[in-house]
Amino acid sequence: MTSRERVPQPTVKRLSLYLRDLEGRNDSPRDTVSSRDLAEAIGVTDAQVRKDLAVFGQFGQPGIGYRAIDLRQALRKILGTDRRWRTVVAGAGNIGRAVLNYGRLEGKGFDILAAFDSDPQVIGTTIGAHRIHSVTELEETCRTLSAEVGMLAVPASAAQSVAEQLVRGGVCGILNFAPVHLSLPPHIAITSVDLTVSLEQLVFRIAANQGSG
Ligand code: NAI
Repeated sequence: MTSRERVPQPTVKRLSLYLRDLEGRNDSPRDTVSSRDLAEAIGVTDAQVRKDLAVFGQFGQPGIGYRAIDLRQALRKILGTDRRWRTVVAGAGNIGRAVLNYGRLEGKGFDILAAFDSDPQVIGTTIGAHRIHSVTELEETCRTLSAEVGMLAVPASAAQSVAEQLVRGGVCGILNFAPVHLSLPPHIAITSVDLTVSLEQLVFRIAANQGSG
């Protein structure tokens, strides 16, 4: 199997989309899925699916396809969602609340163990069964809980400093919603979620389609 660090980000994103499609299927243990099925589900070519999966070794059989149950398990293992991730949320505003109220992350392997905010009106309240703690307790609580993943949903102005607290608390990866570049040690994995960037990509494609139409 290839080393994870060498796998390009777009490939990782497609692997997640293949897994999402497989998890939505109601298949029996003997069901198979073809490259074409996966390709159609996420809007790429069959060749792209085969190429993406080949990076990680030999899956499936020519002419038969992949056993859905095995491929699902293999993709979970590759992506790291075949285990539980100890997760905390920093910032319990609009985005933090949406995350805390979203009940499906646990089903995907992310156990939300604690949430933090700096607003005295928010500290001590409960959102989606999670009690909100003061951000002053973040570092120590993360250490006590052995938190691994931090979801960062604070204003841009506070993002770098709260990210550093998460790192001192021991997290090794941050999902960053704030529209800022975080400057953190290289061993910390960072993924940024930015609706504006996605919308810009969307309108670029709309404009491209209109230009070619
Ligand atoms: P919000 O203002 O509703 O919530 C932010 C929360 O962070 C508040 O509860 C505030 O008390 C808390 N906070 C402030 N300083 C803090 C600190 N030092 N430690 C802990 N908590 C602190 O903001 P919203 O709408 O939830 O957005 C959160 C972040 O996500 C912002 O940076 C915003 O720009 C960004 N955003 C990102 C989007 C995306 O597509 N990724 C879309 C919308 C917003």
